[in-house]
Amino acid sequence: MISKYSDQKEKIKEEEIEEAAREIVKGNLVLFPTETVYGIGANALDEEAVKKIFIAKGRAQDNPLIVHVSNMQMVEDIVESIGDLERKLIQRFWPGPLTIIFQRKSKEVIPNIVTANLDTVGVRMPSNGIAKELIEKAGVPIAAPSANVSGKPSGTKVEDIITELDGKVEYILDGGFTDIGLESTVIKVEDNKINILRPGKVTKEQLEEVAREVKVDKHVLGRVEQNEVVSSPGMKYRHYAPNTKCMMIYSENEEKMINEINKVTNQMKQEDKKVLVIGRKEHLNSYLAERKWNVGETLEEVAKNIFTLLRKVDKEQVDLIIIEGVGEKELGLAITNRLIRACAYNYLVI
Ligand code: TXA
Ligand code: MG
Repeated sequence: MISKYSDQKEKIKEEEIEEAAREIVKGNLVLFPTETVYGIGANALDEEAVKKIFIAKGRAQDNPLIVHVSNMQMVEDIVESIGDLERKLIQRFWPGPLTIIFQRKSKEVIPNIVTANLDTVGVRMPSNGIAKELIEKAGVPIAAPSANVSGKPSGTKVEDIITELDGKVEYILDGGFTDIGLESTVIKVEDNKINILRPGKVTKEQLEEVAREVKVDKHVLGRVEQNEVVSSPGMKYRHYAPNTKCMMIYSENEEKMINEINKVTNQMKQEDKKVLVIGRKEHLNSYLAERKWNVGETLEEVAKNIFTLLRKVDKEQVDLIIIEGVGEKELGLAITNRLIRACAYNYLVI
């Protein structure tokens, strides 16, 4: 399939990718772009190399990594079998921002550290040209989480993450601002049905064109209670959250949403507290807050900009950040999933 996403492969010289690939083979870490977000990659077959990822990110050992491949042979080598529905999904969405959870072949192929001892493995074939070539040249599948210290928003530009990852990776491939800006859709096929464990650019609506039934896991929008069993370990962890208190406010009725945001802003003002509103361009004039940031116009723009904005908010020294919600349709589900976590479930839908 021809890549639908632009990438900035022309920004990188062939030799740079070759050098990065050699670092992967040597067992070192490489920061590289994908069409979704940047990844911190290591040879997925090398336990010692993968250990370095967990140390660099401060990541919990029970949170498995996605294995990135560049061809179907790599998939066949690590998974037990590929079902009919999975094949259809691969045909339609790979290479691209879809991670499929398969039964793993055998514990010896992919080390336990990658899958956090689960009997499944998450696999994705990225479409970004730099990522594809890096995997191809390394000749091994690459385990890579999003490039960020655990808990922070995923890196969508090297400038945003260079400080927190400096000295922790051996090589950096700078491919510019990532195209999508949110991590891949993570799904698992069960009884011929698709379960969405993490929403992303490949939407529920698109998956419904391929499968009879598509479910959204209850923890995609719901809070995980203490000791609750989850389908994907990543759901348990604090993610994307700035230090400043955040709140998401959404209504399908724009006027109602704007009024509510202004009401909260006024309440804060009365207490002498400062508010920053992050909203769609066309709404900014209607807000009473002194500080307002434009998150974009379309859902695609919101997805692309949100992490880089969330990384900047703490510098603003405000008391509350109010973020406009975007609803749950299409790419909105993925954005809402990230926003309610960034806001530590402090949100209002009216
Ligand atoms: O777009 C992406 O997916 C990016 C780029 C770099 O490819 N990667 C990424 O990785 O977001 P990470 O590690 O930040 O998130 C992977 C998510 C986690 O929530 C993890 O729990 C889940 O995928 N996951 C991985 N393997 C799994 C498995 N076997 N079963 C269930 N969930 C799994
Ligand atoms: Mg992550």
